[in-house]
Amino acid sequence: MSIHQDAPAVVRAFSPTEPVILNRPQAAARAARFFVEKFPGKSLYAVKANPSPDLLAVLWDAGVTHYDTASIAEVRLVREALGPDAVLCFMHPVKPVAAIHEAYHIHGVRTFSLDSHEELEKIVEATRDRDGNDATDLSLCVRLRVSSEYSELSLASKFGVDLADAAPLLQATRQVADCLGICFHVGSQAMSPFAYVQALERVRAAIVDASVTVDIIDVGGGFPSIYPGMEPAPMEDYFASIHRAAESLPVSYSSELWCEPGRALSAEFNSMIVQVEKRRGNELFINEGAYGALYDAAHVDWRFPVRCLNETREGAAEEFAFYGPTCDDADYMEGPFRLPADIQPGDYIEIGMLGAYGAAMRTRFNGFGTGLSVDVSDEPMNSQYRGDRVHPRAKDNVVSLR
Ligand SMILES: Cc1ncc(COP(=O)(O)O)c(C=O)c1O
Repeated sequence: MSIHQDAPAVVRAFSPTEPVILNRPQAAARAARFFVEKFPGKSLYAVKANPSPDLLAVLWDAGVTHYDTASIAEVRLVREALGPDAVLCFMHPVKPVAAIHEAYHIHGVRTFSLDSHEELEKIVEATRDRDGNDATDLSLCVRLRVSSEYSELSLASKFGVDLADAAPLLQATRQVADCLGICFHVGSQAMSPFAYVQALERVRAAIVDASVTVDIIDVGGGFPSIYPGMEPAPMEDYFASIHRAAESLPVSYSSELWCEPGRALSAEFNSMIVQVEKRRGNELFINEGAYGALYDAAHVDWRFPVRCLNETREGAAEEFAFYGPTCDDADYMEGPFRLPADIQPGDYIEIGMLGAYGAAMRTRFNGFGTGLSVDVSDEPMNSQYRGDRVHPRAKDNVVSLR
């Protein structure tokens, strides 16, 4: 695949009439190396954020050896893309028995998460051998419910055993697991390192209550990227806070610290070129939307950085909303997106930071969702890893901006 310099070069080359996904392998590799080198433990890529085989290959080449998969389709995909040496962990706390069976017996998955006795029974049953013997090589991570109060997207409702119910589940899991882990998710785009400190305090209470030996502490995802209006503390502050808090836990000396970044490893991988098809006041009708890569912009008012690719537009920046391409009122992204006041139909816009929960959300609804995908060599619109950010003082008490 040829590599283009940047979005304007892609527009010059193709004059695209459909959205174009831009891949920045160098940015994803830099993010991966950052986690591999600086996180004080093991980093599992959460495939859900962006399952692109191109991205998986970049992360693998940059040293990411473990993958957090959340469906049997993701297990198959990563095994197929990366081969037998990739370590796959099945971290969805509610799985079909058939999926556990296939993951364990066919794809070599040994690590599973759970948050209930029912799930534990399913895992034990699905991993027995033909003679009815229980598996002796399971790593089982009990997911604890923790607060999402510091995060832009909550993950506190659906999964996780409450602290009050955790002890019997940890004890029962310890009985069948070769390695026992505790995992949690502080919510996506955690805006303060304190989110992890608070969650690890809950982990401490769970361990003390249950009096079990714990081999793995998995702090999950939630590591933030930079978006308009969301400038998190530097990633090093998150790592340092996690390291300090995890070091003081009552776990065995040989226990491992894991994390499962999705957004932080993928956000900078993609941006997208879209075209304005109609202007109605400060509403722009563009050819990508709520059923595509702008799902989060439509459904949770996520703000993505934008830039107009027509350099002759000189108007001062104004606030615009977007309509997507489908015949559907819900295909609306309120933004605001700041673009030149004189932007017109035919102009192209680059929308940045669409590598996490962006490119992965595209559907074929209404016949849309197709188009080119090309590599570019310029910098992403924002980066946590460029090393040129003003170092904001670490604020352990920043609350969610929403
Ligand atoms: C179990 C699990 N781990 C990790 C992640 C990745 O989270 P993030 O993209 O916020 O890093 C998710 C995302 O929902 C998840 O469900």
